[in-house]
Amino acid sequence: MIIFCSIALLKKPPTLSLPIMASSATTESATTAVNLEQVAYFLVTGASRGIGAKMAIETARKFKPGSVVVLLARSASGLESTRSEILTVNPHVTVVTSSVDLATASKELLNEIVEKSLGKQPVDRFGLACVIHNVGTVGNIGRKAAELDDRAEWEQYFGTNLFTVAVLNSCFLRKFQPVPNKLVINITSKACLVPFQSMTYYCAGKAAREMYFRVLAEEEASAGVTVLNYSPGPVDTEMTVDLQANSNAPAIRDYFKNLRDTTTILTTEQTTAKFLHILENGLFKSGDHVDYYDH
Ligand SMILES: NC(=O)c1ccc[n+]([C@@H]2O[C@H](COP(=O)([O-])OP(=O)(O)OC[C@H]3O[C@@H](n4cnc5c(N)ncnc54)[C@H](OP(=O)(O)O)[C@@H]3O)[C@@H](O)[C@H]2O)c1
Repeated sequence: MIIFCSIALLKKPPTLSLPIMASSATTESATTAVNLEQVAYFLVTGASRGIGAKMAIETARKFKPGSVVVLLARSASGLESTRSEILTVNPHVTVVTSSVDLATASKELLNEIVEKSLGKQPVDRFGLACVIHNVGTVGNIGRKAAELDDRAEWEQYFGTNLFTVAVLNSCFLRKFQPVPNKLVINITSKACLVPFQSMTYYCAGKAAREMYFRVLAEEEASAGVTVLNYSPGPVDTEMTVDLQANSNAPAIRDYFKNLRDTTTILTTEQTTAKFLHILENGLFKSGDHVDYYDH
């Protein structure tokens, strides 16, 4: 049975609110609630459409004047459209777009993008530095796990979905080390916990990626870094249109067809509103996997 949305078995028990955006103190009384109404540096990958575009717009809406928003993806026109929507809801932020292929982007290129977006601004003028690692692809969904023997295809997939994510994250944290509150969001999936037919690359990539962020949360707990692995639920985007049309597994195609037929597939607005609710109310502890249906 295909279940993308929450099931009781996978629901996490309630967890204590632990330290986070407050200070470097890590006491159980500290909150993970994030105040977005401040001068922020905010970088979002996969911001040209879908979940990443909506999260960029709705999060940037809240920032104080002087904030800097950086949008990455390949489609320059998609990025420009997101930029224009952000400036409509919040004309007091600077929005920088960079058209980049994250499958192959080097550390040098990523550092250069961050440096250019800052210009001459010192990083300590920001109260919050936040990155949303949203970029994601489903990979080859026409082949079974046993048939995936193309090493270059594996490298391409993991390049986009894990290697560049980790390298960018490292560049980001190094640059913004002096900022008191550093928030790292990984857009994850139920597929990192449950195997879905035809989705080998996706399941393996999401599992590895989430574990990277869980280790990060452990290691950086006392360094002002808060990590949230947010699982957005099944959302109406190009990714799920592709799965519904092209998965080699009938159960996967039927699952998304049924969600669309019954209009129970989530919208990017719904999942973004839930994401902001979780963030602003601190309904997680650093490193947690939090699903749309958990709250
Ligand atoms: N939709 C769902 O039901 C669902 C469920 C769980 C988790 N998620 C996760 O949510 C995230 C967003 O998914 P979505 O549904 O919004 O997908 P989407 O509509 O396909 O958007 C993917 C984004 O990633 C960018 N991207 C893809 N390959 C790239 C590359 N090589 N270099 C740079 N950017 C690249 C795309 O931009 P360009 O094509 O312009 O480069 C686009 O902005 C993903 O991490 C996905 O795994 C989605």
